[in-house]
Amino acid sequence: MFRMSDAWMARLKDPQPWSAPRPLPQPATAGDICVRLYQQGDGPALFAAIDDRREALLPWMAWASSDPRRVDDSIFYVERCRRAYEKADCLDFPMAILDASSGAVLGGTGLHEIVPDLRQAEIGYWVRGTHQGKGICTRAIGALISAGLRPTEEGGWGLRRILIFNDVENVASRRVCVKLGLRLEMRMQKDRYLDSYRDTLGFAVLADEWDFEHNRTKPGT
Ligand SMILES: CC(C)(COP(=O)(O)OP(=O)(O)OC[C@H]1O[C@@H](n2cnc3c(N)ncnc32)[C@H](O)[C@@H]1OP(=O)(O)O)[C@@H](O)C(=O)NCCC(=O)NCCS
Repeated sequence: MFRMSDAWMARLKDPQPWSAPRPLPQPATAGDICVRLYQQGDGPALFAAIDDRREALLPWMAWASSDPRRVDDSIFYVERCRRAYEKADCLDFPMAILDASSGAVLGGTGLHEIVPDLRQAEIGYWVRGTHQGKGICTRAIGALISAGLRPTEEGGWGLRRILIFNDVENVASRRVCVKLGLRLEMRMQKDRYLDSYRDTLGFAVLADEWDFEHNRTKPGT
């Protein structure tokens, strides 16, 4: 059977593949917004954030139609996340978006689908129905991208490239990417199904294109 030599395999990945910095990075903040890993005790507040106005998360977050059903489901979810974070091979880091002063959960996001050999991650997001349209997502995701792309020596996650995908009809989600100055890199034709086959837009940014001070893409990128 054909087997690629180790030398050729090595050419297919970053010479310094990503691994999660330990200890895991501190919360990312932008003014009154904080993005952090789930902590013990977040379950009830997370449940409230979803249950408050579930219909505002639909149709894009289809899980919200049935999950979580009870506070216990969110408590279990938070515990599962916390245990997964500790595993050396964890490549999925769900996070909460919070009001930095009150600690209320305002939404969810995270670094997902991490590809260590490319030092790349995807970000997804949702914001509590009662709090949408106030710029919360844009501020939260700007802060999270900064944390994600910041080198580990400077307290970041040490990623090189971040991707965000949204349904072509999800105007609010697309606006968040546009407001952050992300580059529209792809339109995937009819690659998802929601009542009918639909297109997906893919936005991206590289670490050297990102303005860490202003939490957005550098002008002219
Ligand atoms: C997408 C989502 C996270 C945005 O959160 P948010 O905190 O409201 O976002 P922001 O306030 O930072 O920005 C939203 C932008 O979309 C615009 N917008 C919202 N609904 C819109 C609509 N139906 N048509 C056009 N623009 C719309 C807002 O006006 C705002 O743009 P502006 O600042 O230029 O006015 C939120 O709408 C949500 O949770 N939606 C359901 C889940 C979801 O779709 N997640 C993304 C999956 S990829």
